[in-house]
Amino acid sequence: MAYETIIVETRGKVGLVTLNRPNALNALNSTVLAEVLAAMQIFEANPRIGAMVLTGSEKAFAAGADIKEMQSKSYVDAYFEDFFVGWEQFARIRKPVIAAVAGYALGGGCELAMMCDFIIAADNAKFGQPEITLGVMPGMGGSQRLTRFVGKSKAMDMCLTGRTMDAAEAERSGLVSRVVPIGELLEEALKAAAKIAEFSLPAVMMAKEAVNRSYETTLAEGLRFERRLFHSMFALEDQKEGMAAFVEKRSANFRNQ
Ligand code: CAA
Repeated sequence: MAYETIIVETRGKVGLVTLNRPNALNALNSTVLAEVLAAMQIFEANPRIGAMVLTGSEKAFAAGADIKEMQSKSYVDAYFEDFFVGWEQFARIRKPVIAAVAGYALGGGCELAMMCDFIIAADNAKFGQPEITLGVMPGMGGSQRLTRFVGKSKAMDMCLTGRTMDAAEAERSGLVSRVVPIGELLEEALKAAAKIAEFSLPAVMMAKEAVNRSYETTLAEGLRFERRLFHSMFALEDQKEGMAAFVEKRSANFRNQ
């Protein structure tokens, strides 16, 4: 499939999607949305792929939703097309997706990174929700997801002042899982994704589902959900294989069954 705004590659069991609109700092327009979704859905359906990495350039993961595309919309346009709703399909991808973020992750770029399962940041990464400087507010989940990641005080600070957070602050605040030198970003993210892809895919997908459920439910219901999923894993051949391999002191050979 030919793409205009992204580069799609496969590295072993890992699907790699690189945002590629260098002249617009990877601003997220409707073509980017359609192409990212298409590429991710192809990886999702491919049984040989166990995890995905989403990245941008050294200068920008993505500098936000495309301001030039949005600029002339009316309220009715935005309302009828339910502007940005398409990104919810990205957040519903069931295989793991790691965001490898270098440079600017602003507005929709920060929001897209937060829709991934975790963020590995380069030391030059800058996160922010500067929509307030444009006379608007976050619209792709920033007010909700950022608050869950970093707490109310920092989320308010970022959404109301539009200030950016550097990689060190993002790591301290729990927004990113690790920070690496920029030259090692892609390698580190691909290594993490390859490690995940070696594990039992159903176990990985259920673990992702369980962690995500913690955002949506009470602790008691979440614990019950986790326990039921855990019980169901005893129907997997991979559970037998994983535990047998441990006891027999060998490495496991998971078959995603
Ligand atoms: N939309 C459209 N085009 C963008 C863009 C965006 N979000 N961000 C950058 N660009 C374009 C610029 O217009 C410029 O294009 P031209 O050369 O044709 O003028 C090109 O990318 C390079 O950008 P700059 O010259 O501005 O680069 P810089 O290095 O001087 O500055 C920057 C970098 C600080 C990131 C600056 O580009 C910037 O502030 N960008 C906008 C950031 C922003 O406000 N993001 C939020 C968007 S709204 C949103 O995302 C809503 C939501 O909740 C989903």
